[in-house]
Amino acid sequence: MTLKTHKSPLEDIEQIKRIDKSTMLQFSTKAPKHYREAVRLAEKIVLDYEKPVNIIVAGMGGSAIGGELLKDYARSQAPVPIEVNKDYQLPAYAGQRTFVLVVSYSGDTEESLSAFLDAQRRKCMVYCVSSGGTLLEFAEKLNVPHLRVPAGMPPRAASPYLLVPQLVLLEKMGLVSGVSEGLNEALKLLEKVSRENAPEKHEEFNPAKSLASGINGSVPVVYGFGIYRGVAQRWKQQFNENAKVPAKWEVFPELNHNEIVGWEKAGALAKRFSTVFLRDKSEPAEVRSRIEITRALMQAGGSKQFEVWTQGKSALAKMLSTILVGDFVSVYLAVLRGVDPTPVQTIVTLKHKLGETGIREKIIRELEKLKPIRS
Ligand code: PA5
Repeated sequence: MTLKTHKSPLEDIEQIKRIDKSTMLQFSTKAPKHYREAVRLAEKIVLDYEKPVNIIVAGMGGSAIGGELLKDYARSQAPVPIEVNKDYQLPAYAGQRTFVLVVSYSGDTEESLSAFLDAQRRKCMVYCVSSGGTLLEFAEKLNVPHLRVPAGMPPRAASPYLLVPQLVLLEKMGLVSGVSEGLNEALKLLEKVSRENAPEKHEEFNPAKSLASGINGSVPVVYGFGIYRGVAQRWKQQFNENAKVPAKWEVFPELNHNEIVGWEKAGALAKRFSTVFLRDKSEPAEVRSRIEITRALMQAGGSKQFEVWTQGKSALAKMLSTILVGDFVSVYLAVLRGVDPTPVQTIVTLKHKLGETGIREKIIRELEKLKPIRS
């Protein structure tokens, strides 16, 4: 009798191609190239605004995550607060000295168009990043400075093009530093991460495949800290949209004040989750002890635990390379689950149904009434 050995779908390139029909994996593989192109594109940015007293990044989903990363990166440097606005209206404090970055990959997202309208009405200093759509149409009509990024990608795959300009803008305004150096290091590290996690690399030597196999069958919960707050959020979003699984993210130290109790009596429920701890060789001592104590306390609960040790020296290299690892993990998880990572049908259906409510058209009619604020 011969035993049948089943090859993992992750080791069968043809099988990967059959599942990953629209080649989401290629976006991960090509991320270093896209970051490089984004850096070149961002060199074109000229900005003529005075220093703001606060900054708002307005966007949703795959277009908002860059704002979260910007906020984490700038937190230890920027003398002004940064808020990511994921809603129709801007916060009450937004005014003429607020710098509003409206980021929408499609340029057609209802909430982002509404935030743009709100920012224009409040005479904020606005800058738009988009591949086109209604947003850039009105940015052009209203003389609002903007950057047009390459079209034709899923928004979450366009994050290099959506994030880099935001970093460059803040550096040009003198609010953060180290962006060029960080990106230079990141570009090299991203190449390395891309090679280490490439589809041709066997699971045994491929950290992303190995983590995807470990997580498969459970709900991933990603724990970040400090500069990895937005990174944890991005991992969660990629699990949702690529692997089509529910997922969750939390951040230290806050999770020590609520989340950990949730595992206390989770019983059999805990076994349905996998916790992924983002770790950094140079994590601060207070974070290290928290993570280790938390891991030990949670062990009793019985959820699967994984650690992902980040790479790199500069904050940007660390953040971007960890994002790329998560992108690969989510695509490999999709392959293991036999789902095409690219389509996000529920978002499409939702947007279609919302389109029938006429709210977007109303926002556009209001935009049509605006006159340029600046010449
Ligand atoms: O990943 C996605 O497709 C979504 O999260 C979108 O980014 C979100 O719906 C907003 O659309 P856009 O990025 O085009 O503004």
